[in-house]
Amino acid sequence: MNRRTTSLVLAVGLTSTLTLTACSSPNTPELKVGDSYMPRPVSDLGAGFLTVTNSGGGDDKLTSVTSDISDDVTIHRTKDQKMREVKSFDIPAGGELDLERGGNHLMFMNLKSRPAPGQKVGIELHFEKTDPIKVELPVKETNYNPAHH
Ligand code: CU
Repeated sequence: MNRRTTSLVLAVGLTSTLTLTACSSPNTPELKVGDSYMPRPVSDLGAGFLTVTNSGGGDDKLTSVTSDISDDVTIHRTKDQKMREVKSFDIPAGGELDLERGGNHLMFMNLKSRPAPGQKVGIELHFEKTDPIKVELPVKETNYNPAHH
C-alpha cells in the first residue's frame, strides 16, 4: 500500500467514526443505577453492589469507578468462586448490569475509613459513552443480602 492509499483509508475511517458519534437518539444508552449498597467492611477491603439498567437503544460499558474512600477501586468478575479484575462490564441496550453478592462486584482496596451501617459511601461510575454518574452506596450489615429478582 502506498502512502496515498493509506491516508485515504484513514480519512474514510475518521469520517465514519464522526458520523456514528453525531447520530444520537435511538443509539444512545439511557442508564439508571439502583439497588446499590456496600456491606459493612470488616477489614480495609470493601465490596460494592448495584445494578445499572439501560433503557436506551445503544450499548454501553462500565469502565471504571472512583471513590473518596479508596484510591484503588476496581471491578471484578466472579467465576467458579474466584474473582478476577476486568477492564469493563457490558451494559447492553435494553438490558442491565447486575452486580450482586456471590457474583460480579466493585472492589475497594485500602479503605481510608470503615463506614458503618447508616452511613453512605460516595462513588462515581465511569462509562464508555454515558457521562459519569455519582451514586451514594448505603452501608448495610456485613452479611446483608437482598433478595434479587
Ligand atoms: Cu473482588
